Amino acid sequence: MNTDNYISSVKGAIITAEEIRDGIASAGKYIDAIYDGRPILLIGILKGCFMFMADLARAISVPCEIAFMAAKSYEGTESSGKVRITLDIDRDISEYHVVIAEDIIDTGRTLKAVAEILKEKKPLSLHVITLLDKPERRAVNFNADYSIFTIPDIFVVGYGLDYNEYYRNLPYIGEISVL
Ligand code: IMP
Ligand code: MG
Repeated sequence: MNTDNYISSVKGAIITAEEIRDGIASAGKYIDAIYDGRPILLIGILKGCFMFMADLARAISVPCEIAFMAAKSYEGTESSGKVRITLDIDRDISEYHVVIAEDIIDTGRTLKAVAEILKEKKPLSLHVITLLDKPERRAVNFNADYSIFTIPDIFVVGYGLDYNEYYRNLPYIGEISVL
């Protein structure tokens, strides 16, 4: 990637750091209300979740364990809907209330596949929290239990989300113009 116009390629914040903080605080209250003191296993989907996960974990009060998974869509076969798990959960989750933390739901394929894999492991319950949701792009029938921000069909970066692996470290979410 040509990084000459690295920051100017991001057309400002469409969601500011402050809005992200407030949105995550509400998501934390939602989780606390559902589980009401019962312990949960918070599973983040890497890499996009890394910042969101750190803030979400600090916004919840129920006892919480942390785990990560990673998934990739098969390259060039997006329409086939095949998703490869590149980092799987390494424990028995059948005694856990599981909460998945995802950065963005786009076509829905990644999370649908991840949720199906986790359901087979028979957790006590399963909820999905996503930071961003692009419902216009949905290709499969899958929705989060809680979407913090709904956005139109634009490509966004920052706060964990990348364009060719760049921009994950921006503290806000912005639209990118180099595509
Ligand atoms: P899905 O399987 O189509 O729902 O896509 C999920 C993955 O696509 C996300 O976890 C992101 O890695 C990536 N993705 C989708 N839309 C965007 C975007 O606007 N910016 C950055 N990554 C995106
Ligand atoms: Mg990505």
